[in-house]
Amino acid sequence: MPSYAVTGASRGIGLEFVRQISLHEENIVFGIVRNRATAHELSRLVVERANVHILEADVTEYRALKAAADEVARVTGGALTCLINNAAHLQDLRRTYTLDEYDRGEEDLLGYDLHDVINTNVLGVIHGINAFLPLLKAATNTNVARVVTISSMTADLDLTLSAEYYRHGAYSISKAAVNMAMAKYAAWFHDENIVFLSICPGIVDTATRTRTPEELEVYAGFVKFMQKAYPEWNGEQISPKESVEMMLGVILRWSRKDSGAFVSRFGNNQWI
Ligand SMILES: NC(=O)c1ccc[n+]([C@@H]2O[C@H](COP(=O)([O-])OP(=O)(O)OC[C@H]3O[C@@H](n4cnc5c(N)ncnc54)[C@H](OP(=O)(O)O)[C@@H]3O)[C@@H](O)[C@H]2O)c1
Repeated sequence: MPSYAVTGASRGIGLEFVRQISLHEENIVFGIVRNRATAHELSRLVVERANVHILEADVTEYRALKAAADEVARVTGGALTCLINNAAHLQDLRRTYTLDEYDRGEEDLLGYDLHDVINTNVLGVIHGINAFLPLLKAATNTNVARVVTISSMTADLDLTLSAEYYRHGAYSISKAAVNMAMAKYAAWFHDENIVFLSICPGIVDTATRTRTPEELEVYAGFVKFMQKAYPEWNGEQISPKESVEMMLGVILRWSRKDSGAFVSRFGNNQWI
């Protein structure tokens, strides 16, 4: 039975992964959330669908991930076919700062912001992979196992330079770092039947409330940058449904030959 574990499944793209994967009754899906009490939509899905399970873990806490992996093993008999590292810290504060802007009396905040995103977006992913590796390896006895990390186009060097996108530094650095972590796993496990893939979901509307005027202004700025590389793009975001459908198409056809790659939802380097 194919089994999936998705981190950050309380809302947004993670919740949509659980929703789409669990549509197929033969799949068993574990939605991992920080706080079960506030994961209302996922809790409803657990009631509606027998193949959905909810587990609690903050991805920055290795022991909590290990306990989640133990629970998955108990339910599946010891294996996991696909781990989706989706949880991330999006760095809403100081997102518009350039890296040198911290050098005006806010040097401590630079360390704070970098630590915050790396702790969740890099260490959290590495902890997750390490906790679930025995289960992923067990799955390779009968099938290919997959490890997917939801990355970001802001980590792409070519796009950064062509769009001259100098903002959102700490977050972009963390996503570039996690792409490298994924490549390291792919290199180490290249003889095993495990495929590692970093994938960007596109620009996806996952807002849970109406944006403030300041947030709208920041987004309008982001659109202007991206239009330098994609002049035909009008700034429209795609839905979680469309993003996840496209990503699943790429994830499920990705082969060991290209393990360790970082691609868009189109399966290439077209980011928008
Ligand atoms: N949306 C986009 O346009 C876009 C573009 C590029 C890349 N991405 C990437 O796509 C992924 C999903 O994005 P999204 O827009 O769906 O984000 P989102 O709506 O902000 O959801 C983030 C999820 O991550 C969880 N999370 C955050 N820190 C966590 C931690 N320490 N431990 C466990 N869970 C944690 C959140 O849980 P809580 O509910 O507990 O806060 C939430 O479920 C992220 O990796 C993001 O970087 C998104």
